[in-house]
Amino acid sequence: MATRKKTAKMKTKAAAKKPAKKVVKLKAAKKAPAKNGKHATGNGLPRPSTKPYGQAGLALHGVKVLDFTHVQSGPTCTQLLAYMGADVIKVERPGVGDITRGQLRDVKGADSLYFTMLNGSKRSITIDSKHPKGKDILERLIKHCDVLVENFAPGALDRMGLTWDYVHKTNPRMIVASVKGFGPGPYEDCKVYENVAQCAGGAASTTGFREGPPLVTGAQIGDSGTGLHLALGIVSALYQRVRTGRGQRVLAAMQDGVLNLARVKLRDQQRLKHGPLTEYSQHGEGIAFGQATPRAGNDSGGGQPGWILKCKGWETDPDAYTYFITQAPVWTAICDLIGKPEWKTDPDYATPPARLPRLRHIFDTIEQWTMTRTKFEVMETCNKYDIPVGPILSMKEIAEEPSLRATGTVVEVDHPTRGKYLTVGNPIKLSDSPADVRRSPLLGEHTEEILRDVLGYSAKELADIKASGAITPPEKPAKAEAA
Ligand code: COA
Repeated sequence: MATRKKTAKMKTKAAAKKPAKKVVKLKAAKKAPAKNGKHATGNGLPRPSTKPYGQAGLALHGVKVLDFTHVQSGPTCTQLLAYMGADVIKVERPGVGDITRGQLRDVKGADSLYFTMLNGSKRSITIDSKHPKGKDILERLIKHCDVLVENFAPGALDRMGLTWDYVHKTNPRMIVASVKGFGPGPYEDCKVYENVAQCAGGAASTTGFREGPPLVTGAQIGDSGTGLHLALGIVSALYQRVRTGRGQRVLAAMQDGVLNLARVKLRDQQRLKHGPLTEYSQHGEGIAFGQATPRAGNDSGGGQPGWILKCKGWETDPDAYTYFITQAPVWTAICDLIGKPEWKTDPDYATPPARLPRLRHIFDTIEQWTMTRTKFEVMETCNKYDIPVGPILSMKEIAEEPSLRATGTVVEVDHPTRGKYLTVGNPIKLSDSPADVRRSPLLGEHTEEILRDVLGYSAKELADIKASGAITPPEKPAKAEAA
């Protein structure tokens, strides 16, 4: 454990120091000698690497991403690709950049946490995509990159001249990946933000308490959730390209992404035709179901009933609660723990179907027990008996949790203008590809580096580009003229 902690600390420190992405050149793995026309290891794969795990390059090493994303949904996707080792080149409007750089600012003059926590491990280049020279630069980038990712409002990419036909003709291997609010249909032209997607994807109508209005959740399932879906689409398209040699379009609509995450509620919608949803507490309370899946408060959503219960200190601490699941196999242990051994044999309580109409009373009784302990004591005691419970952790507790730092799920990075900040590292752990978590770039920090080292512009060409206004903000009018 001590070693793990040390490693994570060292990695974080190293990440904070590294200002820009270092492109590591890897030798291609040797192919196994052919045997009867096939490679000895099968499927044309190289021999298994003999390098120690974690030292054979990152999973997406060599993948170049032209990142046209902004706000949250698209940046979540490209940040994950960057954590996995892709070279992500974020294109931003000169002088302006991603709008979130300046939104919800907490440190004057510094990029906001909104931006910095969604754009780590990327490089930033400023290009006016509507400027003729800007278009030339973009064309070179399209030829150079493997994937173009964007989440503009519908039609914006086409208005820049970057239609699928143009991109595909310029680089037939390029994958063009988009987040949009809706897929094809009546709403495809609409602009969409997180909560609109939560509402349109069925999450809001099924979240909250029956007697209250629909609720949105704090987890950004519309934005970050769709970004995750898009990332899977992109790596699948990259994999298919190995066979076909050509790129394709990848679309993740936010409505679809939210619905995918809310699929158990569409399951319940169909079950309604065949009778009441007996595991919903509303059933136990004798309240009839309507036409659609109702809001179910803190009901578990699965086959094992659960609820959020108060713990010691709830009167003053808004997060002194635990989630408690009355999992059937450990029911007798629960009865003993809460001082109700008679429920083990009482026909009204002994079986799951008998308990369903009494869930409210059962959870009220369990709560009398949980209120005598802190949420962590409840967790410790219940774990001994394999009873599934979960403390309601505040963001403060999560930020300070040592085990999340040790695994690299929460990472501290250093930033030149805002100082140290916490970000969420890669939640997906690969045993041969340690996450590459670094700070976000300053606006246009890598413009010259990319033009020179990636696209091969000469010093003279660079000077011309600078003078043209394609990578710099338009000159502000002189005061006298402006007046
Ligand atoms: N150079 C020049 N122009 C640029 C540019 C650059 N580097 N980068 C962006 N622009 C322009 C675009 O061309 C577009 O101009 P146009 O509409 O005149 O053609 C404009 O900036 C802004 O694009 P848009 O996407 O419409 O931004 P918005 O702030 O009005 O809308 C959203 C924001 C999020 C509502 C919208 O982008 C959207 O619906 N996206 C898809 C769904 C989505 O991802 N939503 C979740 C966001 S977290």
